[in-house]
Amino acid sequence: MQTMDSTVQQIKEKIDIVDFIRSYIPLIPAGKNFKAVCPFHKEKTPSFIVSPDRQTWHCFGSCNEGGDVFKFLMKYENLEFYEALKILAEKAGIELRRLSPADQKQFGVLYDLNHLAKEFFKKSLWGSRETLDYVKSRGLTKETVDEFELGLAPHGFDNLTVHLLNLGFDVRDIERAGLIVKTEKGRYIDRFHDRLMFPIYNSFGKVVGFTGRILPQFDTGEMGKYVNSPETPIFNKSKILYGFHKTKQPIKDSRRAVLVEGQMDFLMLYQDGVKNAIATSGTALTADHLTALRRFADDLILAFDNDDAGHKATERSIDLANSLDFSVRTITIGDFKDPAEVVQKHPGKIKEFIHEAAHAMKFYFERYLGLGDKKKDIGELKKDLRMVLQKIKIMSSPVEQAYWVRELANFTGISEPAIVEEMNKLKSVSRFESLNRNAEKALPKSAGTRRDMLVERLITILVSHEDLRPKFKDYAEYVPTAYIGIVEQVLQGREGENEALGILNLQSSLNEVFEVEKIIEEFNNLLLELKLEYFREERESILAALKVLEKKGDEVEMGALLQRFDEISKLMHNVR
Ligand code: CTP
Ligand code: MN
Repeated sequence: MQTMDSTVQQIKEKIDIVDFIRSYIPLIPAGKNFKAVCPFHKEKTPSFIVSPDRQTWHCFGSCNEGGDVFKFLMKYENLEFYEALKILAEKAGIELRRLSPADQKQFGVLYDLNHLAKEFFKKSLWGSRETLDYVKSRGLTKETVDEFELGLAPHGFDNLTVHLLNLGFDVRDIERAGLIVKTEKGRYIDRFHDRLMFPIYNSFGKVVGFTGRILPQFDTGEMGKYVNSPETPIFNKSKILYGFHKTKQPIKDSRRAVLVEGQMDFLMLYQDGVKNAIATSGTALTADHLTALRRFADDLILAFDNDDAGHKATERSIDLANSLDFSVRTITIGDFKDPAEVVQKHPGKIKEFIHEAAHAMKFYFERYLGLGDKKKDIGELKKDLRMVLQKIKIMSSPVEQAYWVRELANFTGISEPAIVEEMNKLKSVSRFESLNRNAEKALPKSAGTRRDMLVERLITILVSHEDLRPKFKDYAEYVPTAYIGIVEQVLQGREGENEALGILNLQSSLNEVFEVEKIIEEFNNLLLELKLEYFREERESILAALKVLEKKGDEVEMGALLQRFDEISKLMHNVR
């Protein structure tokens, strides 16, 4: 019998990190270390280092992340810890069965329970004529239902609970698996009932959670249309892409993925022959989702719902995907409400829509400058035009920029030189861009680094929220020099003395439209970001210094700097 810790240790002794990572990416010898082009972010020169001595890896580029062989595998394959453990144990020839039952149970039982729940739901479905009729009315075929193992969480409040307890499971494990909830009175009841159940699989095809859609005859409007499993040690919503276990290969082959908003959309697309789709499940798209996808696809086609929420999600997703270097396109589905409806009403049509997907910039043209129902006055037009120009301005390729400026000129009838001039006048894009614009005259000229922007935003909050000022004092050392004076004034309640603060004050009245909790949450996040950014800057300068020292061959000084680099990395880790 052995503990989890000793198993992990044993695995690390048996698997050499250099060999292991080399089986994924090419490594180039660099002194006693190895380097590579980082697999986790886009770069041309290698900043990913593997150290055989320490059996660790670290990316000194924009990821600034590192760790052991477990961390590498988890990140590379987008796995939870236990999944990585299973793979590495097998590779190392260590039997996990020798783990203590407690450790085994920790994770293994969660997979077992989800599997058994799936079987239970499946069985219930085939006994319910009504639910089968509903499934049919949505356009799903028997093949799809079978392939994705849809089920029914029956009427009642403890069907599954009783079933699993009868099989001998511990109620606390069933709760950990997210299948039951404890009522206020301390009673355990099923999380899901009266719902069509969609098992959610991880990329290996193991069921790790569920989403359940309320059946129409039970829909009183009081319960959510969809209920999802909570996050558990094996189910991380911000990582899992629904359907990926089936569509991984087609995505890899075509280097292209079609992203939809939900299970129904995914299943209908799949059924209609679109085999390279995936869906987010019960959460907005995250950078983790996209990082997992990036190794398989270069092109991302967004096919979200045709409503305001869907358009907002599209905009957010375009920006996120662009930042991860996807080439992004969006589909237009006319008057249909979502891709599922397209498939149901016009089989075969969705492929045409996907084929006609337009560059994401076209989506912005339509969204901000499309004619819509009303004619805009010049002020409105200018504002909307600037939204689009911001998107063009952040493009890294001048050729691409020029192309879209011309397209924009054609689209709006405004001359190209006027558009270029307007674009050049825009400040670099940031979330605080409007603040920068308003406060341009009175604030320090340097406004522009990320830390500057963070502090500006913090100041606007401090001005309107006196109670948050004491907490800020602990972070004063991370304030950029140019802002120290102004921050002092605010902290001492002398904001009236500063002209810039008059503007910030106006700006901060905007804060009042947000809920206080939101502001406090943002405030705390900004403080952490400020501190992290301070350390990031310090690391930047260390890296620059290292380059110089490397040329000089000054190994002693380099050693000292590397040590400081490690220290900062640890500090940053602790901040998080
Ligand atoms: N979703 C959720 N919770 C909700 C609503 C939606 O988690 N209360 C998630 C589900 O994963 C769902 C996706 O968001 O699949 C898309 O929601 P929606 O567009 O409302 O789903 P549809 O499939 O269009 O719903 P319907 O069955 O009514 O067609
Ligand atoms: Mn929908």
